[in-house]
Formats: sequence, structure tokens, C-alpha cells
Amino acid sequence: MVIGVPREIKDGEQRVALTPAGASALAEAGHTVLLERGAGDGSGFDDHEYESHGARLVMGADAVWTESELVLKVKEPLPAEYGYLRPGLTLFTYLHLAGNEGLMRAMVASGVTGVAYETIQSPDGSLPLLVPMSEVAGRIAVQAGMQYLQAPNGGRGILLSGVPGVPPAEVVVLGCGVVGVNAASLAVGLGAQVTVLDVRHERLKYLDDIMHGRCVTVYSTRANILRAARYADLVIGAVLVAGERAPVVMDEDAVRAMRRGSVIVDVAVDQGGCIATTHATSMSEPTYVKHGVVHYGVPNMPALVPRTSTLALTNATLPYALAIARAGLPDAARRDPALALGINVQSGRLTCPAVARAFGLDCHEPSF
Ligand SMILES: NC(=O)c1ccc[n+]([C@@H]2O[C@H](COP(=O)([O-])OP(=O)(O)OC[C@H]3O[C@@H](n4cnc5c(N)ncnc54)[C@H](O)[C@@H]3O)[C@@H](O)[C@H]2O)c1
Repeated sequence: MVIGVPREIKDGEQRVALTPAGASALAEAGHTVLLERGAGDGSGFDDHEYESHGARLVMGADAVWTESELVLKVKEPLPAEYGYLRPGLTLFTYLHLAGNEGLMRAMVASGVTGVAYETIQSPDGSLPLLVPMSEVAGRIAVQAGMQYLQAPNGGRGILLSGVPGVPPAEVVVLGCGVVGVNAASLAVGLGAQVTVLDVRHERLKYLDDIMHGRCVTVYSTRANILRAARYADLVIGAVLVAGERAPVVMDEDAVRAMRRGSVIVDVAVDQGGCIATTHATSMSEPTYVKHGVVHYGVPNMPALVPRTSTLALTNATLPYALAIARAGLPDAARRDPALALGINVQSGRLTCPAVARAFGLDCHEPSF
């Protein structure tokens, strides 16, 4: 199969959909990998590295899109790329179609087939291609919190680990899913005092088991969150109810109860935020102060570390790309129900119930 990897054109996006090692795995399996020159630059992979791993470098996006049967990307196509969508092409990327009517209509009209990273779902309900970015974001949340607790950045001037004779910072994590567990383990590793709240007992039990009791787990209620807010130096918001806007679990009174110069990092801001006072910020202006508390609300935190994020993402996507390339999408989907759930659009027909519901359109069974 001819597999193409264009350079990402979304503003600030430095990730790339395939590492040189991934290119080598596809080339060794007998496929042709076409990579747009410079596509890996933002993640620190240069053209020579790809060439030495068996990729064919091409100038500009046109050749990649027009000559490939399977295109691997990170972000959804932008309007400038809609013209490349066509029958016979399979696009494998994050699509988030339910929130993007323009793209949904462009894909349907074009006859393309689109497999969305975010709807690939394992039998246990987990979303294997969302996990790596949540792992990255959970860990960045602690790094960002550490940074904004420093006095020149408006923080209380607290060292996360403390020093002998001076207690460490109190970190409170709301939500014990992928983001929450990653944030909690890094914060504990850095020496902070960590409390994690969730409504799912099995998640709290899991964390307690893996941390050998080194962090406190608490059932999440409004009253318990208010109590934790009073002693927190850093609150990390990581609450999600799948497929819905994040529930606001920490109200404004709880934010008011926090001490001046303490920090909130609301990772769930990409789903609307789980803390009453947070709103989305940007890489160039990541924070604002409300009720004396520094708020951090960057919705695309993995973009801060494109190299790590590219490696983590492609570790997760490569097995699916190999399966599609080996057998073709219909056969690969027949063998793997998780992959089948990723098919959002097949030859221009909507096949993802959630996307169809979002626009009141008919949903078709994918055929394979
Ligand atoms: N900002 C970013 O760059 C970025 C990157 C990756 C993920 N995210 C977001 O982070 C959020 C968390 O993602 P995740 O992968 O950890 O999700 P997850 O589903 O693994 O975990 C969410 C957790 O929230 C818990 N929860 C639900 N209601 C709760 C309540 N009332 N109180 C406490 N906990 C509650 C759930 O039980 C679950 O354990 C999502 O909104 C995701 O989109 C943001």
C-alpha cells in the first residue's frame, strides 16, 4: 500500500503522524511511505532520518495526498486540505467530527473514508488512541503547576517537594482516570503531598494499590472538594464523563476558599472544564488570575512537548496503520472490532452513530 504523511498545517502543531521507526516498520512490511519534506522537523526528526528508515521524501503536500491510498495525520484536515479528500482514500487521524460540521460535510461530499483515532474503542470501553495524550497531559499538568507556583509567575513561592524541615506542596487531583493517575504519580514522585478524588471506587482502589498508599484517595463530593481546596497549593482538574461536557465539580466558593497564589491547572478544559472559574487559554497566554488563584487552561497541552507526544501517539497508532496497510481497511476492521468503531465515514457515508446524532443525520452500518 502507498502510505502518505503530510506536514501538519494547523497553527502551532509540531507533531507528525509517523516516526522514522514507524516508517521503517511499514517499509519492512513491503509498503511505500511517502513523507512530505520537513514533516518531522517540529518533532526533531529530520528528512535524512526518514530516508535512512526507508521513507520516500516528496516536495509539498500535493504528491503525498494524491499518490497515497492511506494518509496518516495527527490533526483533522483543514479547509485548505478538503480538496485532497476523494473516493479510494483512507484517512487515519484525529477527526472530532461531532464538533466540526464543515469537515463532516466535506468528508461526506468527497467520498473519502475516515478512521478517527478518538473513536477506536477497546472491548473494555477504553480509548487506546486518546490514552497517550492524556498520559502526556497529566504529567505536564504537574510541571505547569510547579512552574506557576513559583513567585515570579504569580504563585505562592512553594517548592513542590519542600526541603528537609519544610513540608512539600499539597496537590489535589480531581478525577482518577488516565490524566489523574499520571498527574498523581508524577506529583508523588516529585515529593508532593497528593490527594486524589473520584466517584469511581475501583479507580481509587487502583491508585491506592499502585502507589502503595503514598497518596490519599477520597470519594469525590462537593463537600470533600471544598475541604481539599482549602489546603491545596495546586489543584489539577481531570474529570471526564465520556461523550459529555465535563461536569463542573469544583464551584466558585471552593476556588474562593483557596489561598492567594495557589494554582489551578484544569486539564479538562478541552471538554469545557471541571472547575467553575476556568476557561480555555492559549500557549502564548496560558494563565490568568481569578480570586487570587493562578488559572492555567491550555486545551492542547501535548503540543508543548511535540517530540514526546509524537513518539507516544505513533506507538499507539502504528499497529492499526500496519493492520490497515496489510489487509486493507475492511478486512482489518472485520478482524478488530476496536478498529471498526473508528470508522466515522466510509466512502462518503456517515458510519459513526455519535457523529450522525450530533447533526441529526442518518447513520449507516460500515460494510466490511
Ligand atoms: N488539556 C489537554 O491538553 C488535554 C489532553 C488530554 C486529555 N485532556 C482531557 O482531560 C480530561 C480527563 O481525561 P482522561 O483521559 O483522564 O479521562 P478518563 O475518562 O480516563 O478519567 C476521567 C475520570 O473522571 C472521573 N469523574 C467523573 N465524574 C467525577 C466527579 N464528579 N468527581 C471526580 N471524578 C469524576 C471518572 O470516574 C474518571 O475516572 C478529559 O476532558 C480529556 O479530554 C485534556
